[in-house]
Amino acid sequence: MRETETTTLEINGRTREIAAPPNQTLLETLREHGYFEVKSGCEKGDCGACAVLVDGEAVDSCLTLTGTLEGRAITTVAGLKRGEELHPLQAAFVKFGSIQCGYCTPGLIMAAQSLLNETPEPSDEDIRLALSGNLCRCTGYTKVFDAVQEAARVLREEESAS
Ligand code: FES
Ligand code: FES
Repeated sequence: MRETETTTLEINGRTREIAAPPNQTLLETLREHGYFEVKSGCEKGDCGACAVLVDGEAVDSCLTLTGTLEGRAITTVAGLKRGEELHPLQAAFVKFGSIQCGYCTPGLIMAAQSLLNETPEPSDEDIRLALSGNLCRCTGYTKVFDAVQEAARVLREEESAS
């Protein structure tokens, strides 16, 4: 049996004590604990399918060891949901048909949210750069870029109304 160490993570707003071997990746940990919305693709940092937010910034969970994340806040695509309502990014991906098989979608949405956390009014070039580590075989990227622009606009409106 492999040795384990315990790491405290806040996952989608819930504090969890995670016992994991020192070499376990965050991707492995999350899927082992039922966060199947985090997708496993290349497992070597090339596709972005596994991206989650760590303290608001997108990381490839396949390249991140769980034991290095003591006390950090992890957000998966499911954690963006607002009760029964979709988050504006999720809603915009649906509206613009930016989802076909959907395998890339959680990672794309995480990368987009990470961008919008830093840059509420991104240029097309900002979006292209921010999503450049996320591969999609199905949609062509135009609908994804349109969805991110729409979500950015909705989020800015929400911010100015608050
Ligand atoms: S599975 Fe992590 S980048 Fe591909
Ligand atoms: S929608 Fe299929 S890989 Fe992106």
